[in-house]
Amino acid sequence: MPPEDAGKRGPRLMLVPFSRQQFDLLIEWTPNAEFLLQWAGSQLEYPLTRAQLQLLLETGARKPPSCYLFGVCDPRDGSIVGHGEIGQVDRRNHSAHLMRILLGPPQLRGRGLGGEIVRELARFAFERLAVHRLSLAVFERNAVAIRCYERVGFRLEGTLRDARCHGSEYWNLCLMAMLRPEWERREATPTGSDPER
Ligand SMILES: CC(C)(COP(=O)(O)OP(=O)(O)OC[C@H]1O[C@@H](n2cnc3c(N)ncnc32)[C@H](O)[C@@H]1OP(=O)(O)O)[C@@H](O)C(=O)NCCC(=O)NCCS
Repeated sequence: MPPEDAGKRGPRLMLVPFSRQQFDLLIEWTPNAEFLLQWAGSQLEYPLTRAQLQLLLETGARKPPSCYLFGVCDPRDGSIVGHGEIGQVDRRNHSAHLMRILLGPPQLRGRGLGGEIVRELARFAFERLAVHRLSLAVFERNAVAIRCYERVGFRLEGTLRDARCHGSEYWNLCLMAMLRPEWERREATPTGSDPER
């Protein structure tokens, strides 16, 4: 389905609260340490375990919440197909940070669904949390994710050189962000594109 039709028919994917029932899927979708670092950063360790995910779930349960954890659901059959988080919620500065975005089954990737996950997370952050600034960090080597974020409206702000270590390699980390006026401009156009670009 082209993106303009997705808008008319409603999203193909929806956010649901992260829960214990999703632990085994995240473990199954994470085949090695490199992939874990790519999608989840360096706080989680390979092999991913239910105990680590339980701790993650508990961080999302603190009051007031500084992070929101989601599973991504395919509304057609209720299956969970991904994960995403909004962390570092800073109510004083009206900012938050997207984290741990994953479209689980590899065969679903590269069909525009990741863009929908990011758009739904951004909608939650801008509309429900009323943030002004929404940021994220992505490895420079992850060209598909960077393109996906750009398409939703995130802009590259800078690159942290050799920011993370994996084995004998260092990976550059790109910082990207979208501001509320940029989000609102996109939401006002039928295709969700930026009219000024
Ligand atoms: C990152 C992720 C969520 C993106 O979802 P997706 O459904 O695969 O991405 P989309 O199809 O929405 O967008 C991918 C874009 O990259 C483009 N692309 C594909 N291969 C590419 C490549 N080798 N180089 C550059 N761009 C590429 C696609 O053409 C598309 O852009 P377009 O819409 O302008 O044509 C998904 O790939 C994923 O879960 N990856 C593994 C986990 C991960 O890396 N998470 C990111 C953590 S920061």
